Amino acid sequence: MRIVVAITGASGAIYGKRLLEVLQQAGHETHVVVSAHGWEVLEHECAIGRKEIRELATVLHEVEHVGASIASGSFLTEAMVIAPCSMRTLGSIAAGIADNLVLRAADVMLKEGRKLVIVPRETPLSAIHLENMLRLARLGVRVLPACPGFYHRPESLNEVIDMMVGKICDSLGIEHQLFPRWQG
Ligand SMILES: Cc1cc2nc3c(=O)[nH]c(=O)nc-3n(C[C@H](O)[C@H](O)[C@H](O)COP(=O)(O)O)c2cc1C
Repeated sequence: MRIVVAITGASGAIYGKRLLEVLQQAGHETHVVVSAHGWEVLEHECAIGRKEIRELATVLHEVEHVGASIASGSFLTEAMVIAPCSMRTLGSIAAGIADNLVLRAADVMLKEGRKLVIVPRETPLSAIHLENMLRLARLGVRVLPACPGFYHRPESLNEVIDMMVGKICDSLGIEHQLFPRWQG
């Protein structure tokens, strides 16, 4: 698959990084864009920067470059994931604002009727946040809040992270062994 992956400035940058590792290992083509605050949180929470993300991405785009391939609907992609998705990015997409490459690529997904998966992270959520999520959900966006389950009894933080990334892969229709499935 050719998948756009965006990392924005919400807490949980590790979800975006781990998703890139999984997609790379599975041989998918990724077009990656990180917002300015996404880079800040990646550095703060994961102590990684451009070098590490470039190694995980097939193509790393600059967030200011709204003329990049993924800014056009004529560039065919199968899906886009925004993990984590800040409330600023969520609200901008819901309002139809497309003034950076994360927002423009998401806008393209909506206008072309392609799969868009967002992993919003904030707590508590205001009515504005909830309304923005509802607005996108009604447009067919898969809203996958960063709320991992614990019914698989994780013993490490990595298992908690993989639960979320596995749910993202489920939304994309990508097979994985990231967490054991509930068997009843
Ligand atoms: C360490 C750190 C953690 C943050 N965590 C969140 C968060 O969990 N959710 C959120 O919506 N914003 C969070 N923010 C604030 C966003 O980064 C800020 O609103 C920014 O404007 C988002 O821009 P972006 O959507 O272009 O990445 C955080 C900022 C920092 C520095």
